[in-house]
Amino acid sequence: MSPPPLIVNAPMYGYADGQLAAAVSAAGGYGFIAGGYNFTTNSPQLDKLQHELDTARSILQITSPDDPLPIGVGCLTVQADGIIQNVLPILLKARVTGIWLSFPQHGTDHGPIITAVQELRQANAWDVSVYVQVGTVNAAREALEVGADVLVVQGSDAGGHQWAQGASIIALLPEVGDMVREVGKSAEIRLLAAGGIVDARGVVAAIALGADGVVMGTRFIATVECSAPDTAKQQILSAVDGGSATVKSRKHDVFQSTDFWPIRYDGRAIIGPCYKEYAGGIADEEVIRRHNEAKENGEAERTIIWAGAGIGSIRKIVSVAELLQTIYAESKLAVTRLNDAFGI
Ligand SMILES: Cc1cc2nc3c(=O)[nH]c(=O)nc-3n(C[C@H](O)[C@H](O)[C@H](O)COP(=O)(O)O)c2cc1C
Repeated sequence: MSPPPLIVNAPMYGYADGQLAAAVSAAGGYGFIAGGYNFTTNSPQLDKLQHELDTARSILQITSPDDPLPIGVGCLTVQADGIIQNVLPILLKARVTGIWLSFPQHGTDHGPIITAVQELRQANAWDVSVYVQVGTVNAAREALEVGADVLVVQGSDAGGHQWAQGASIIALLPEVGDMVREVGKSAEIRLLAAGGIVDARGVVAAIALGADGVVMGTRFIATVECSAPDTAKQQILSAVDGGSATVKSRKHDVFQSTDFWPIRYDGRAIIGPCYKEYAGGIADEEVIRRHNEAKENGEAERTIIWAGAGIGSIRKIVSVAELLQTIYAESKLAVTRLNDAFGI
C-alpha cells in the first residue's frame, strides 16, 4: 500500500469533485472526491460519483483503465446501505487508491465495508488504503479493530460534521498516537491530522504532534479549482477570528433540514443569519421557514457554509498548486524557526 502524501484534501460533500481532487494529486498532494451519503441502488449520487471519477482520470491524463487513479473517494457512512454492493464495484473499476469512511451510525458499522474492501484488494491486486475519520480516542480504537489503514484524526476546530464531544487536535492527536503505539500498530498505521489547518504553521504543528500528514478541508474551498459558489468563498475570505465567526452546533442541520445525524455528531459552520436568529430566541420552525424561503428565491445569504475555525487566517483565493507550493516552502521556514527556538 502506498503511504499517503503529506497534504490531503477532505472529501467535502458538495465541494470536493473530480476537478479539485485531480488538482490536489497533480500538485503533489492527495485528492479525495466526496462520494456522497446515499448509495442505494438508483441513487443519482452513484452516477455523479462515476462522472467525477471520469473527470479526474481525464484531467490526470490516465488513459489506460487498468492504471491506478491516484485519488480517493469519501463515503459518509451515516447511511451506509449500498456501499458494498453499489460503491465498491465503481471504486474497484476506477482503481482509486483510497477509500475514506466517516460518521458511522454505530462504532462498528465500518467492519463489513472494510472486510469487503480487503477481500477485493486481495482478489484483484488492488492497491487501495482505507482511511477512517475519527474524532475521539475510542472511535480511533474501533477503527483499528475493524481494519483501518489510515486514521484521519479530526479535531474540534474542523469545518463540517464532527464528533459533538471531542478535543482539538493538540490534545487528541498525541493521545491517539499513544493508543496506536500501545496496541502495537504504530508501524503499520498512518495518522493524518484534520481540523483548523490552513497553512504551513498548522502542517508543521500537526507533524510535531505525531501526524504523518494533514487533511485540509476549508482551506481548499478558497482555491481556484474548487467549484464552491463565489459567495461561500467570499464569506471564508472575509471572516476574521475563526473561533468567533464559526460555531459548532447541531442547529445548522436543523435549519437546512438535514437533521438525520446520530446525536454523537454535530457540525461547525459560519455564523450566519439563521444561527443569529436562533441565538436571539427565534423558534426553529421560523428559522427553517426563512431558510427554505430564501433557498426557493435563490438567495444565498441563508445558505449554511460549513467551515473550520482556521478561516480567520485564509486571506486569498489561490490555485491548488500555489497553495501546496507555498505550504511546502513555508514549512521549511517554520522548521528553521523551531530549530532556532530550541537551539538546534
Ligand atoms: C464544506 C465541508 C464539507 C465537508 N464534508 C465532509 C464529508 O462529506 N465527509 C467527511 O468525511 N467530512 C467532511 N467534512 C469534514 C472534513 O472531512 C474535515 O474533517 C475538515 O474539513 C477538516 O477541518 P478544516 O475544514 O478546518 O480543514 C467537510 C468539511 C467541510 C468544511
